[in-house]
Amino acid sequence: MTGTYLIRTFGCQMNEHDSERIGGLLRSDGMSPADDLEGASVVVFNTCAIRENADNRLYGNLGHLKPLKARNPGLRIVVAGCLAQKDRGSIQERAPWVDVVIGTHALPSLLDLLRRSEREGPLMDVREHTETFPSALPAARHDAFRAWVSIAPGCDNACTFCIVPLVRGPQRSRPIGDILAEVQGLVARGVVEVTLLGQNVNTYGRDVTVPGSSRRPLFADLLREVDGVKGLRRVRFTSPHPHDFTEDVIAAIAGCERVCEHIHFPLQSGSDRVLRAMRRSYRRERYLGWLDQIRRAVPAIGVSTDIIVGFPGETERDFQDTLEVVERARFDSAYTFQYSPRPGTAAATMDEQISKEVVQERFDRLVTLQERISTERAAEQLGRTLEVLVEGGDRRGDSTRSRTRTNRIVHLSAPLEPGAFAQARITATAPHHLMGDLVDARAGARV
Ligand code: 5AD
Ligand code: SF4
Repeated sequence: MTGTYLIRTFGCQMNEHDSERIGGLLRSDGMSPADDLEGASVVVFNTCAIRENADNRLYGNLGHLKPLKARNPGLRIVVAGCLAQKDRGSIQERAPWVDVVIGTHALPSLLDLLRRSEREGPLMDVREHTETFPSALPAARHDAFRAWVSIAPGCDNACTFCIVPLVRGPQRSRPIGDILAEVQGLVARGVVEVTLLGQNVNTYGRDVTVPGSSRRPLFADLLREVDGVKGLRRVRFTSPHPHDFTEDVIAAIAGCERVCEHIHFPLQSGSDRVLRAMRRSYRRERYLGWLDQIRRAVPAIGVSTDIIVGFPGETERDFQDTLEVVERARFDSAYTFQYSPRPGTAAATMDEQISKEVVQERFDRLVTLQERISTERAAEQLGRTLEVLVEGGDRRGDSTRSRTRTNRIVHLSAPLEPGAFAQARITATAPHHLMGDLVDARAGARV
C-alpha cells in the first residue's frame, strides 16, 4: 500500500509496544507516518479498556472521523487493542465507518484485513489466542535508543476489578532464547535501554520450559541473562505483582549492574478487607515487609505504585488504612485511580458501589498526601550527582529531558542528543521532576 498512517495509542506500555508493531507492519508495506489526521490515508486507534473513560474517548474520537471519512472515502479507519477485543462487533454497529476492528491477538493479519476491506467493506478479526507474538513483527520505534521487549503478555490472575485477563488472555511467556535474540538485535542497532514488558513480569516462565530440560526459566534467570548482553546499559521491567516478588528476583536486581534501581509495585489498596475483595493475595503488612526487604537489598531504589480508590464496599476505615500504608511506604510516585466498574469483571456486580462524590473526596485526600510525600522524596535528591539518559528536547527548546536509573525525570539546561548519557547534579526539585546541571563525569566539576 502507499500513502501515510497515523497511530493514536491509549493506555499502557503493552499498547505502546503493539503500536510500534502496527507502525512497523504499515511501513514494511510501503507506507510512511503522517503529520496530521487530515493528511493520513490510514488512521489506527490502539485502544485501552481499563477504565470507563477510555470507552467514551474512543467513541468521541470515532465521531470526529465520520465527516472526514465522508469527505475522503479512501481513508481507512482501524480500531485495535483492548477495546477492540472487548467490544468486537459493537464497534462497527456504533460506528459503521470503521473499516477494520482487530483484536489483541490478531495483529499479524492487519495488512491483509486492510487490503480486503477495500473490496469487501468493514471487517473484524478478534481471536481468543495469540499464535504469533507481536514481537515477531517489524517495528517502527518511537526512539532509536530504547525499546520495549514483550516477555509475557496476558495475565493468569483474576483481580476482581481488572478487565486485562479478559482482553489479553492467559499469560504466554516467550522462550528465553527469543527474548535474548531480540535484545541482542536491538543493541546491535544502537539501543541502550530495554524495558521488559508483561502484565505480571515476575511470573515469567511458568508456562514454558528451558530447551532440553523440564526446568522452567524464572524471571530472575531472565534478568541475569539480559543483564549479560554486551553493549546494553539499562534494563527495566514492568509490571511485577507484589505477590511474586520473590527473594531471587530481589537478589537479581541487587546483583545485576544494568538492571535499574526502580520498581513499580502496585499496592491497589492498603485495607486487608479490600485486598481480599479485590482477590489480591497479599495483605498490608506483607506488602510493607516486602518493600522493606527490597529497600534493604537496593537502598537507592525508586518505588512507584498504583492505587484504586472507591472499590465496592470500601469504607472510610478501609480508606484510612490505605492512607496509612501510603504514609508508611513513602512511594516516590503513585498512579491513583478512581474505581471504574468494568462489565464482565467480578467487582462490577458487587453490592455497595461507592458514590461518585465519596470517591472524589477520598481521591483528593489521597492525592494531597502522595503529593506531599513525592515532594519530600524528591527533595532528598537535592545536591546528588546522578547518571541520566537523555530522552529528548524539552518544550522550552534549549534544555533537555533526561531520566535517572531510579526513573526520575531530570531537566538539564543544556541541549544534548537523545540516547546520550550524562552526569547531572541536582539543583532543584519538584514532586514530579528534578532540575540539574551537567557535570563533567571525570573531573566532577560543573560544565
Ligand atoms: N478501575 C480503576 N482502576 C483500575 N485499574 C485496573 N482496573 C481498574 C478499574 N476497573 C488500575 C490498577 C492497575 C492499573 C494499570 O489500572 O491500579 O494496576
Ligand atoms: Fe489486572 Fe491483576 Fe492481572 Fe494486573 S495482575 S493485569 S491488575 S488481573
